[in-house]
Amino acid sequence: MKFDKVELANVAIRTTQYPTDNKPEFLMLGRSNVGKSSFINSMLNRKKLARTSSEPGKTRLINFYNVDDNFYFVDLPGYGYSKMSKQEQAKVGSFIEEYLVNSKNIALIIFLIDIRHDPTENDRLMYNYIVNNSNSPCIILANKADKIAVTKVDAQVANLQNQLNPLKDLLFLPYSSERKIY
Ligand code: GTP
Ligand code: MG
Repeated sequence: MKFDKVELANVAIRTTQYPTDNKPEFLMLGRSNVGKSSFINSMLNRKKLARTSSEPGKTRLINFYNVDDNFYFVDLPGYGYSKMSKQEQAKVGSFIEEYLVNSKNIALIIFLIDIRHDPTENDRLMYNYIVNNSNSPCIILANKADKIAVTKVDAQVANLQNQLNPLKDLLFLPYSSERKIY
């Protein structure tokens, strides 16, 4: 894919700071350090657009990336970063929830989990929250697939789906921002 114009358009905490042009929004959701910002960079073929870090807690605000004036990629802060104070975690949780409740333009939720680990308690809480409260479609990406043996990828994706979505009515896919795709 070729994108001509990709830029950080809005940085928001509150609803009044979201874009107002009603373009579709593709939302990255997942715990801190799972690779949300890296996913955006890999999809848009930009190395340093969304700031990433090996330290969790890099993205602290809601970043709206305008792509060719057609849609937004929305990079949310991660949840469950244990080094953040409880107060700060609660603050981040409140703007994630405010966004999920108030945005009318979410076209797709891309929920990222780490392929190497069982879902955390926070992953389960967030997953259940979305499934029970959101009207937008959601896909689940098991990210960092390059970190396990290729032969184990399918079984691990199935294992994660069994744990989170035993009804198997959602799409679970392996992904790697490093290798781009699986
Ligand atoms: P917060 O902003 O803290 O919520 O984190 P984030 O979810 O945006 O994670 P980020 O994209 O900053 O990535 C965290 C670390 O994981 C960085 O060191 C990335 O290079 C690394 N990373 C992300 N995706 C992958 C992947 O698919 N494979 C590997 N090997 N590393 C990855
Ligand atoms: Mg980030």
